[in-house]
Amino acid sequence: MAKSDQELPEGFRQLKTQVAGHTFEESNAEAVGLLQDSKAGCVLKPLGKPECGERELRFYESLAEAGASGDNDLLALLRGHVPRFYGPLKLVVNRRERTFLRLEDLTRSYAKPCVMDVKMGKRTWDPESSPNKRKVEEAKYVMCKQKLGLCLPGFQVYLPKEEHTQETTILRHGKDYGKSLNVEGFKQTMALFFNASTSDSKSRRAGCELLLKEVLRQLQEILAWFQRQRLLHFYASSLLICYDYSRLADPPKPLINGYHQNDDDPATWVRVKMIDFAHVYPAEQGLPDENYMFGLQSLIEVVQSILHR
Ligand SMILES: Nc1ncnc2c1ncn2[C@@H]1O[C@H](COP(=O)(O)OP(=O)(O)OP(=O)(O)O)[C@@H](O)[C@H]1O
Ligand SMILES: [Mg+2]
Repeated sequence: MAKSDQELPEGFRQLKTQVAGHTFEESNAEAVGLLQDSKAGCVLKPLGKPECGERELRFYESLAEAGASGDNDLLALLRGHVPRFYGPLKLVVNRRERTFLRLEDLTRSYAKPCVMDVKMGKRTWDPESSPNKRKVEEAKYVMCKQKLGLCLPGFQVYLPKEEHTQETTILRHGKDYGKSLNVEGFKQTMALFFNASTSDSKSRRAGCELLLKEVLRQLQEILAWFQRQRLLHFYASSLLICYDYSRLADPPKPLINGYHQNDDDPATWVRVKMIDFAHVYPAEQGLPDENYMFGLQSLIEVVQSILHR
């Protein structure tokens, strides 16, 4: 079966902007990736292996319920940093019924979606994993994971074809590329992803600066949440960084009554959200999630160094 021949329910298609994780495979009808319902502006994530899928579903459900009793406000605050959750949904894909999570599509309405999946933490195995799984995880992405507490399973970015042109080309890389990166390579890839060296025109340079500042603002908010919380530890979870390339080179819109139009708010074309909660556990001994925070702090430093270079 070719990738395009998958039997999908009407109204759904493969999520073209999926840059990492489990995907559809040509020769394996059992392998299912994320789907997109572009009319509803949501993506559908198939539940993973039974324990993982249930853990992720429970995580989203606990966030949805949080805040009602007042004693779990911190959990309610986390809702702002993850995709909105619209409940589970059963769909038949390749003649088999599966359960999906309906989530806000973080790339919705983007004309030229740039997407990067950054996996967080030096330790990417959960407390229940076998000694073998630990070994396998320890051996992956060693060069930047152990130093930065970050690794790069995949990304896609639009880049200008040549200097001073409107034409673009798209660059996509998966986990093999991420595994080849050392710290310097990781930093260079981040700069490439943010179009920091290809921003030749004045307006694109300004756009790139806006982008980096907005990414930093959202990263700092997530860090502030982690500094307060002692509830959860996140293993093998990612940050999804998304922006719309077409807005980088957009000339500034005229002010209306002294205000920029609403869609000029960079938060509409830049989104940094936490995803992938198949390995979220209650915090051990009520401790903060130092593992996640270490990665987050180094990500903030990398973005700052691109902004200030
Ligand atoms: N809410 C979302 N909006 C847009 N794209 C998403 C969203 N969630 C996931 N994606 C895309 O799908 C990819 C894989 O997602 P995710 O990490 O949740 O799945 P996975 O790694 O296959 O999951 P698991 O580890 O639970 O098996 C991401 O890298 C991203 O490209
Ligand atoms: Mg993932």
